[in-house]
Amino acid sequence: MIGLFDSGSGGLTVLTALRKRAPKADVIYFGDIVNAPYGEKNADELARLSEAGLNRLTKEGATQIVSACNSLSLSVLMGATEHTEIIEMTRPVARMLRSRAGARMLLLATLATIESRMYPNAIGVTVLLDELPISGLAGAIEFGAPEEEVQKIVREAFLKRRGKKYDAVILGCTHYPLARGVIEREVADIFGPIEIIDPAEAVAEEVMRRFDVEGSGKTRFLISKDPDMFRKRVSELFPASSYTIEVV
Ligand code: DGL
Repeated sequence: MIGLFDSGSGGLTVLTALRKRAPKADVIYFGDIVNAPYGEKNADELARLSEAGLNRLTKEGATQIVSACNSLSLSVLMGATEHTEIIEMTRPVARMLRSRAGARMLLLATLATIESRMYPNAIGVTVLLDELPISGLAGAIEFGAPEEEVQKIVREAFLKRRGKKYDAVILGCTHYPLARGVIEREVADIFGPIEIIDPAEAVAEEVMRRFDVEGSGKTRFLISKDPDMFRKRVSELFPASSYTIEVV
């Protein structure tokens, strides 16, 4: 069984990309909403939370894990045991970017992701990477802040790079595609009509290549807090799926 792990709703964007390709996979999803947002936490806290999350998923029967949270990539890799197969967000993207040598990319991510140096380490010198932390954005999305507030956070961050030229923007936090409309508008306004890359697609492809995606197609969601927002997103994103939601 495949286990997906995020601080909350962000991993749903990875699950969406996966479900398009693997409707029959058996999935258990852990959203640690009580501890969200992860992106503002330090490396020690993230190591502790990732260990707890991995333990929970493996105890519930997950044998193959997707860390659907960029902020956790480093700690999940460091905490993995030899018995668990893990796919995290950054290396599938790096693989995808190999054919884009010389492209100028702006990585949008949480502070934790940027401090972990996972993206530049995974990508190497293939593309010219500029990294922009957007503090507060994942939390605003998770807890359903009004669109104007989300837009203000995005715009203020982008203004720090106004005048720079990029070929693409990478959504380096799995929550960001949930605000894709706002991000797209602000990107177009400040950087022009450039490509937006959602790493979920490359991660889902990697899952298809490496993990067992045959099963009954059920999803078990485990959440550590029960806001209406999470249930609403699940019902909107997976209207035809068979799933259960448990508060743990
Ligand atoms: N969605 C996660 C990520 O990709 C975590 C965001 C957060 O909880 O701050 O980084």
